[in-house]
This record gives sequence, C-alpha cells and structure tokens, in this order.
Amino acid sequence: MAKVESSSENMMHDSEEPVKTRILLAACGSVAAMKFESLCRSFSEWAEVRAVATKSSLHFLDKASLPRDVTLYTDDDEWSSWKKIGDRVLHIELRKWADIMVIAPLSANTLAKIAGGLCDNLLTCIVRAWDYSKPLYVAPAMNTFMWNNPLTKRHLEAISELGITLIPSITKRLACGDYGNGAMAEPSVIFTTVRLAYKPSPANGSG
Ligand SMILES: Cc1cc2nc3c(=O)[nH]c(=O)nc-3n(C[C@H](O)[C@H](O)[C@H](O)COP(=O)(O)O)c2cc1C
Repeated sequence: MAKVESSSENMMHDSEEPVKTRILLAACGSVAAMKFESLCRSFSEWAEVRAVATKSSLHFLDKASLPRDVTLYTDDDEWSSWKKIGDRVLHIELRKWADIMVIAPLSANTLAKIAGGLCDNLLTCIVRAWDYSKPLYVAPAMNTFMWNNPLTKRHLEAISELGITLIPSITKRLACGDYGNGAMAEPSVIFTTVRLAYKPSPANGSG
C-alpha cells in the first residue's frame, strides 16, 4: 500500500509548482462498481486519484484493471497501517489528503450508514470525519425497489442537510432485468459534474 504522503494543507511542492487536484473516489457493493475503473481513468487524466473500496464492492471491481497510478485502499489497509500510538490513521490521512470525495456507486447500505452517522469501515470513517468545506458527491446505484423505498428519500434528505451533493440516478433497464430508476449516472456525467463545479482555491493550484 502506498503511503499517504501529505495533507491537503500542504499544497505546493518544494519547487512551488502547483499540485494537481486530489480526488478520493470510493466504490460500494453495487453492480455499477464494474464502471469504477472507467471513472478512475476519467478522473486521473485531470487529477491525482486515490481510491477506496468497500468489502462488497470487491465482488464487482477488478483491482488489477485500475490505472497504475491509482492506489486502492481497503479496510485491511486501515488496520495493517496502524500498529501503535503515534502511527498515522488511514481514514484521517485520506480525509486530510483529499480536495474532493466522490462515492460512485453509493449503495443503499452505505447511504443509510452515512445518514445515520455509522462508521464501521474505511469509507464510512472517512465520511464521518469529512470536512464539509470540501465537496463530497454521491452517485447512488440500486434496484428500483430499493430506490422507491421510503427510507431512500429519508436518507437522501439527511445527507443533503450535511452538505453532500447528489448526482442523480437514472431510469433504465437494470442489471437484474428490472426497468426503473436507481441506476448510477454514467461515469462521463459524474466526471463532468465534479469537474465543472470545482473551483480551486488560490492556494491549491491550477485545478
Ligand atoms: C449481485 C448483487 C448486486 C447488488 N447490487 C446492489 C446495488 O446495485 N445497490 C445496492 O445498494 N446494493 C446492492 N447489493 C447489496 C449490497 O452489496 C449490500 O447491501 C452490501 O452490504 C453493501 O455493502 P457496502 O455498502 O459496504 O458496499 C447487491 C448485492 C448483490 C449480491
């Protein structure tokens, strides 16, 4: 696992060259995680990318297919990188490192956990520690029956109040064969939404 080298407060190299925007991409356990590789490729052409995967998402995404310069962190890294008091805590380091976080796909499970403040894995610990002066986007993906459940609306309202930006799901034929809303927005739409909205502060480079 690559070390998380410095915090986002230290945004210039020694040469005073502006550093690239730092994007933390995260995937949950949805079939849409098969598109995570494409998302990583789009973002890594613009920004420095680190990735976080939940345990369930690893059933759908192929670690080996991710761009070579994208480090993927899992729950195992959280614990293997911490041995004693004084060691860095991975979820806090990644929270400091990132300028932007994008969770795509966001599962119903992780949506509910974020809405309720639960933090029992690397991804949700980062979100629970998030600094809401920095953008955090979510692109939900779930079956229409889950999407239409009243809990989804309740949880989306709760995360909106926190300052999390929704990249809306779309209506189409889902992987399971059902037709309806709940599919993840296309990776190109997710990338464009984040890229166009990002306004770098004067301290953090060209954007
Ligand atoms: C084949 C399969 C596909 C699934 N697709 C989705 C999905 O699209 N959206 C969703 O919210 N959950 C989906 N699930 C259920 C989640 O994987 C499950 O709730 C899991 O606990 C999510 O964990 P995570 O939020 O930590 O990633 C799927 C499960 C299976 C077995």
